[in-house]
Amino acid sequence: MTDDRNPASLRSHRWFGPDDVRSFGHRSRLKAMGFDDVDYQDRPVIGILNTWSELNTCHSHFRARAEEVRRGILQAGGFPVEVPVMSLGEMLMKPTTMLYRNLLAMETEEVLRCHPIDAAVLMGGCDKTVPALLMGAISADIPSIFLPAGPMLKARWKNVTLGSGSDVWKYWDERLAGNLCDSDWKGIENCIGRSAGTCMTMGTASTMACVTEAMGFSLPGSANVPAVVSEHSRLAVQTGRRAVEMAWEQLKPSTFLDAKSIDNGLTASLAIGGSTNAIVHLIAIAGRLGIELTLDRFDELSRSTPVLADIRPSGRYLMEDFYDAGGLSAMLARMTDLLHTDCRTVSGATLGEQIDGAEVINDEVIRTRENPVAAAGGTCLLRGNLAPNGCVIKSIAADPKLLQHRGPAIVFDDYPQMKERIHDPDLDVTADSVLILRSAGPLGAPGFPEWGMLPIPQKLLQAGVRDMVRLSDARMSGTSYGTCVLHIAPESAAGGPLALVRTGDEIEIDVPERKIHWHVSEEEVTRRRAESGGPKEAPERGYERLYAKHVTQADRGCDFDFLMGRSPGKEPSIH
Ligand code: FES
Repeated sequence: MTDDRNPASLRSHRWFGPDDVRSFGHRSRLKAMGFDDVDYQDRPVIGILNTWSELNTCHSHFRARAEEVRRGILQAGGFPVEVPVMSLGEMLMKPTTMLYRNLLAMETEEVLRCHPIDAAVLMGGCDKTVPALLMGAISADIPSIFLPAGPMLKARWKNVTLGSGSDVWKYWDERLAGNLCDSDWKGIENCIGRSAGTCMTMGTASTMACVTEAMGFSLPGSANVPAVVSEHSRLAVQTGRRAVEMAWEQLKPSTFLDAKSIDNGLTASLAIGGSTNAIVHLIAIAGRLGIELTLDRFDELSRSTPVLADIRPSGRYLMEDFYDAGGLSAMLARMTDLLHTDCRTVSGATLGEQIDGAEVINDEVIRTRENPVAAAGGTCLLRGNLAPNGCVIKSIAADPKLLQHRGPAIVFDDYPQMKERIHDPDLDVTADSVLILRSAGPLGAPGFPEWGMLPIPQKLLQAGVRDMVRLSDARMSGTSYGTCVLHIAPESAAGGPLALVRTGDEIEIDVPERKIHWHVSEEEVTRRRAESGGPKEAPERGYERLYAKHVTQADRGCDFDFLMGRSPGKEPSIH
């Protein structure tokens, strides 16, 4: 780390410093925008990478926040430049934002590399924007600090507190079961999105915000600040100020992130009962650092990490309650023995220094070590002949009675077929059946959508069934719940065994033993494989072709194979 405040040491100096015709052009065009020498000379240029879009409902406050970041940058003597980057809005982008996570990561890396940017504020929040921005910034290896969008305020309907996503699925089931009228359903629609910000359950957005802070990539206390409270504005200003200091200190991701930081992120995600999606994203983030994070490492940490945050969908409360109870810092302060407290962070302090003295205000929301939500294993890795490279289940969000279960499979070849047949009164299904969806993985869908919480058939809902064993090569939303086995690898479209399962085959899961088993003989598997069509062809053109040719499987993080590993850090030539 250096901090000699020598303007010639700044990266942007290569663009603006020399007395040559090219630099003349750079400076004169800034002047064309109304800037003067005093605006940028001898000041770090701070890029504000803003994922605002009118089609990203979770980031609707980002125009105001970008101005607040700008204020902080000016206060600290930097030159702020706002740069729009692709916005991945979970609700409106189809088929799934996951198809585009790596595209935003590539854009982030290249935008940072090709411009005169000395440090960056990464503004994200809605699920995939977080890992994408981090992955790109790590590969560009330019000083960067993350500003999370923050969760929405709690929603209220009649006398009920509603949680994003989770309560949509819950009340939709009640509607299908005939227990909810049209006007109540409309009432929920009108109330459940109460403010700007990300889903206020412990979905993927809040999980990744916590993971990011635990890894040291955002300011202490930032992960849980609700999007629309005044503290969020102050956080934006502070983040801008800190980015300027990071530029002088040359605090690049490579100087503060390592395997121990990744462990801290993973441990935090387990302790908050976080989204299963965090596993995929953390493997990809670690991959950009040249660190191979395996599912076995995840399993090892899962066996020793208690779930302390009692937040929906696996618990009772919402993100605003978590914030009021002391938030992530307070929770981490209760588990320092499970963390690498010596890891450095963007604040300049270690993680241990940051959380020292953080106080839990409410033991119901952030449990004590003696009274956890689960002693360990909130999310588990399973292996077996149906998932040779692993699959995961969020066991704390499942019906405990189903964690050891054997039943006959009902197989859906793809999502449209499942949608057409699932509520058919003639479907031969019971509460003991195992619902299976294939062609839903990184290649199959394509894009690895959140289809893994298959709907419960309507006739079973009407009979009172609310959970069943469901298996797929899909992901599921962090706001989802149920006995859903996800991320089966290799996926069916890549020739995984899931492609060969047939309706009526017996499937067994044993979560305490971390096993999944398909009761079929080797000979039968060989016979079916000989009859099968083989892996799926890549699309003819465009980004989807690039994606299909290079995306890796779930157990490897779904990054593009050519982006994994440490980047050589090549700087553009300036001619
Ligand atoms: Fe954006 Fe849930 S839809 S965080």
